[in-house]
Amino acid sequence: MPNIRHGAVACANLRTMSTTETPAPLLSRPQVYIEDVARNLDAYDGKEVNIKGWLYNKRSSGKLHFLEVRDGTGILQCVMFVKDVSAELFARADHLPQETSLVVSGKVRLDKRSPLGFELGLTGMEVVAEPTKEYPISPKEHGVAFLMDQRHLWLRSRRQHAILRVRAEIVAAVRRYFDSHGFTLVDAPIFTPAACEGTTNLFEVGYFDQKAYLTQSGQLYMEAAAMALGKVYCLGPTFRAEKSKTRRHLTEFWMVEPEVAYLDLTGVMDLAEDFVVSVVEQVLANRRRELEVLERDITKLELVKKPFPRITYEEAIGLLQKAGKETKFGDDFGGDEETVISEHFDRPVMIHHYPAEIKAFYMKRDPQNPKLALGVDLIGPEGYGEIIGGGQREEDLARIEASVEAHGLPREAFEWYLDLRRYGSVPHGGFGLGIERTVSWICGLHHVRETIPFPRMLERLTP
Ligand code: 4AD
Ligand code: MG
Repeated sequence: MPNIRHGAVACANLRTMSTTETPAPLLSRPQVYIEDVARNLDAYDGKEVNIKGWLYNKRSSGKLHFLEVRDGTGILQCVMFVKDVSAELFARADHLPQETSLVVSGKVRLDKRSPLGFELGLTGMEVVAEPTKEYPISPKEHGVAFLMDQRHLWLRSRRQHAILRVRAEIVAAVRRYFDSHGFTLVDAPIFTPAACEGTTNLFEVGYFDQKAYLTQSGQLYMEAAAMALGKVYCLGPTFRAEKSKTRRHLTEFWMVEPEVAYLDLTGVMDLAEDFVVSVVEQVLANRRRELEVLERDITKLELVKKPFPRITYEEAIGLLQKAGKETKFGDDFGGDEETVISEHFDRPVMIHHYPAEIKAFYMKRDPQNPKLALGVDLIGPEGYGEIIGGGQREEDLARIEASVEAHGLPREAFEWYLDLRRYGSVPHGGFGLGIERTVSWICGLHHVRETIPFPRMLERLTP
């Protein structure tokens, strides 16, 4: 049989609460994963398999128990027919609480009605551990605050499982894209001596006898790396002491940041567009089932094709004013404005040439109009907001020195960064894509809190 992952080491000396008198306990026999069977239905049809997992849900009708068993790769309907097992086992199955860990064995039966394409006709079952307390999350509706407190358990639910799988696929797709386009992965530090994205939302930490800050962005280090390696990217956690309680803000989020030597603003936009199309395509190809669990309208994602509309900040202001917003030149866009702009387009839109004043210190100014910065934001469709921020960097020593000063940044902490303009400075640029905002968009989730396994927000540090 192809592609069968076997369980880790057989745990023969693990004490089990087996009620059957099988020669070798099911727990010590090799395991097959639900997803592997679903992918190789022809090979498994009619075969006897052993699945190790947890009881997700259960219903009974006289002679039949329907046990929904999850194993981390899927949730499978297992049918226990009174005639196929001992009376003792049949009775036991009737009283198993949700989240009992168990091993089931049975025959793979193809079934077109099942989302997995098969069900299991049970012939054996072993309980590994029965919960010592009633499981707090039942299939009924719970409030978000309660579920967030139970996040360590909530991850087991069907929707959360699907989200985490899409998230993992997005991260894998991101890496595949850059790894296959000549980029070198360069890891950025987490402890940093200075701000990158403004000084108002820095997390300060004690660092022996000095102060350090949790990184807001790996960009400055990627600029150094790009001068060494040409095309680089980092992917890691970043931190913002965001006091805002919006559906798009976390205090700890993951960002992927490519940076390229000899790249101008147009090149940055071309790269962002090609990259986002590729990530969406890969998720559609590999995680369709999970998107269906999430009831995501996939036709909307299928529209994510090149070219993405590109509009200037000034044009965006025009769209907002036409929609009755009072936004004027010089205002930054918040979530509401981004939503209004995104409603004009069926795919992501790139907004470029922002007023330099509202952008970060490192942005290159437009030589034709120094009031404007060569920056770009990519706004997701359907109101998912800013997903990418980036642009071309200031490569001129005198101008970047002036900008460090104008932004009130501590010059000493930036000397190394200024060296990049002293020794072989070149035009360069890049961007940062927020993983959680991307997961939120692709999964169709209202709030970013469900896009990361253990969210950190203004009022949440646990579990
Ligand atoms: O626009 P930002 O602040 O850009 C930077 O940090 C640049 N240094 C990136 C670069 O050019 N290398 O952040 C980039 C992206 C945003 O578009 C958004 O997707 C995400 O990071 N992001 C957040 N996601 C969740 N919570 C927050 N508080 C976020 N802040 C930014
Ligand atoms: Mg931004």
